[in-house]
Amino acid sequence: MGKFDLLETLSRSKMLRAGLGAPLFEASRRLWTVTPDKLRATPPFRAYGSFLQRLAKLKQTRRQSSWTCFLRNRAQVDFIGEVGRRVCDGGKLSIAIFGCSTGAEAFSTAYALRDSLARVSIEIKASDIDAVNVAAARLARFDPTEREVEGLSAEERAALFDLGDDGALIVKERWRRPVTFSVIDACAPDLAERTGLHDLVLANKFLCHLEPEAARRCFRNLASAVRPGGTLLVSGVDLDVKARAARDLGLIPDESSIAALHEGDVTLRQGWPFEYWGLEPLDRRRRDYAFRYASAFIKPGGNPFRRESSSDRARAAG
Ligand SMILES: C[S@@+](CC[C@H](N)C(=O)[O-])C[C@H]1O[C@@H](n2cnc3c(N)ncnc32)[C@H](O)[C@@H]1O
Repeated sequence: MGKFDLLETLSRSKMLRAGLGAPLFEASRRLWTVTPDKLRATPPFRAYGSFLQRLAKLKQTRRQSSWTCFLRNRAQVDFIGEVGRRVCDGGKLSIAIFGCSTGAEAFSTAYALRDSLARVSIEIKASDIDAVNVAAARLARFDPTEREVEGLSAEERAALFDLGDDGALIVKERWRRPVTFSVIDACAPDLAERTGLHDLVLANKFLCHLEPEAARRCFRNLASAVRPGGTLLVSGVDLDVKARAARDLGLIPDESSIAALHEGDVTLRQGWPFEYWGLEPLDRRRRDYAFRYASAFIKPGGNPFRRESSSDRARAAG
C-alpha cells in the first residue's frame, strides 16, 4: 500500500463517512483555510486534500447548475482566439458549445474570435438541455447586477454590450451574429448525427454534475462531434473520468495549453477540496499528467483549418 493509499481506503469506509464524515470535514475546512498556500502544496497536504474531495464526492449530491459568466476562463478566451488566427483567410470555423446555459459562454467565444471574424466564416452552434436557459440566451440581455457579468472590467463591458433604455446590458450585434442557440441533450447517443462535426467542441462545467458512468458516455458523445484534426475543449469534469475516456478514444492532449487552461477557471480551483466539482492543483510528478490535466484534446486526423480556403474555392471554380 502506498504512503497515502490509507486515506483513500478510509474515504471509502461507510462507517467513517456516516460517523466521522461531517465533523471531520468541518474541522478540516477550518484547518485548510488557515494553512499557508506553501504548506498546502506539500505532498501530505495534497494527499489529505484528495482524501477530503473523495469524501465530498461520496457525501454530496450531484446536481446541475446554470451558473455561468462572461470571459469565465480568460486562458480559454486566448486559446479560442488562437484557434481563429490559425484558420486561413476565407476559411471556415465551425464551433459547437454544449451546456451553454444562458449564453455568456457563446458570446464570449464570438468575442474571443474578434481578430478573425472579418476574414473567416465562423459558425457557433450553442445548445443546452434546458429550454429556459436557451430562451434566455436568445434574448442576449443581461442584468448589470447579475453574476453573469461580474468580474468584467469597464472596458470589457463596453466592448461586449450596448446599454438598453432600461439599463440592461445587450450583447453587441457583432458577437450575436455568428451564434445560434438550440435545445440539445449532449448525452443523446445520436449527438454527432444531430449536430454534425465541428472544428472545436466546447463542453464546460456540466460533466462533473453527472455520475461517473454517465459522464464517461457523454464524453464519448462529445468527442464524436469533433471533426478529425479538431479540438475538444472540456473542463468541469471528474479528472479520472476525463483521463480514462480521452485515452480510450485515442485523443491527444494539447500539452501547450495545460497549465494556463487549468489555472484559468478560478471558481473551479477554489472549490477544491471541499466541493465534489472542485479542481485539484496540478501535480507535475504524475505519470498521467497530460491526460489528467489537459482541457484541450485533439482528435487524430487531418487539419480542419485548411479546408475551403479562398484559394481552394478558386481552384475548385477552375
Ligand atoms: C454550470 S452551467 C455551465 C455553463 C457554461 N458551459 C459555462 O462554462 O459557463 C451547466 C449547464 O449545462 C447544462 N446541461 C446539463 N446537462 C446537460 C446535457 N446533458 N446536455 C446539455 N446541457 C446540459 C445545464 O442546463 C447548465 O445550463
